[in-house]
Amino acid sequence: MVIFCQTDGSTLQNLAKPSSSDTKSNPCVSMPPVIPSRKSVPLDNTDQTTYWNEGAGAKWVANQARLDRLFAPLTQALVAAAAPRPGEHVLDIGCGCGDVSLATAALVGPTGHVRGVDISRPMLERARARQTVEGRGLALDWLEADAMTYAFEPTADLLISRFGVMFFADPLAAFGNLRRGLKPGGRFAFLCWRRRESVEWMQWPLDQVAHVIPLPPSTLGAPGPFGLADEAATTRLLTQAGFSDVTADPVEAALTVGEGSDPVDDALGLLLQTGPFASVFNEAEDSARAQAKPLLRRAFEAKVQNDAVRLGGACWLYRGVAR
Ligand SMILES: C[S@@+](CC[C@H](N)C(=O)[O-])C[C@H]1O[C@@H](n2cnc3c(N)ncnc32)[C@H](O)[C@@H]1O
Repeated sequence: MVIFCQTDGSTLQNLAKPSSSDTKSNPCVSMPPVIPSRKSVPLDNTDQTTYWNEGAGAKWVANQARLDRLFAPLTQALVAAAAPRPGEHVLDIGCGCGDVSLATAALVGPTGHVRGVDISRPMLERARARQTVEGRGLALDWLEADAMTYAFEPTADLLISRFGVMFFADPLAAFGNLRRGLKPGGRFAFLCWRRRESVEWMQWPLDQVAHVIPLPPSTLGAPGPFGLADEAATTRLLTQAGFSDVTADPVEAALTVGEGSDPVDDALGLLLQTGPFASVFNEAEDSARAQAKPLLRRAFEAKVQNDAVRLGGACWLYRGVAR
């Protein structure tokens, strides 16, 4: 079942299969499963902690409102699928600047509680600041902790995450630990990106400049945006970590990457600071960057429709229950 999100945030459900690039024979499919070898992968998240506390954290804070508008149709699909109920206790894993935590806290109400968990101090500071304005009176707090290792009390009814669970050095250990934070029968709903080739807002900009900045290799299965993009491997992983009834539903939406009085400038600003394009662009030689920027500008100009630049977003919505 594909969940198509409308730009007004409503969802349409359809029995279509995921796009062929998710399922066709492709070099990524033959890569090792997500579960890393305990010998070859360091079992701590030091690199990610540094990444989200240094450059990336500040960029996500600076673009918080813009990113929340970009992801809005996906957020609505996630929260609708997770269906937080009044009185429930919820953990928002990798909560970042708190958008999903705030939306969820409004639904669980004063008899429930939401805790946003993250390793990024600057993003949590932003979440706390938002709470005083947008979340006054909500039963909501924040925890700076590594969700892979933190000793959660087994009290949550629901784990939720928008793009916050793809970065663990040891995903099997991490999801086993997260399961221990749920009551027996508690449930999870996580939104994760599909393979880069299926995610237009990440792949298309790279394609536009590929003759000056070569396409980077796939990072399918490695800690990062595509860490849980292989739905068969991720379903196995979640089952092995102690969840039952694990499902992966494709969610698709047109995402507004450029908006406002100059949508092309807006799209360039966003893509040059956050997401996979920014990582690749920032590592390129100065001369390649100087050629790539005008190429991308012209490509965005050709994409403007009704005063906006929209590109597709394609995710997996993983759900399951603690055994
Ligand atoms: C792509 S951002 C998403 C943030 C937020 N959920 C959103 O949608 O705006 C990924 C988030 O996961 C957090 N994160 C990464 N590894 C983590 C870990 N081991 N424990 C807790 N948070 C983690 C990062 O600090 C970052 O805030």
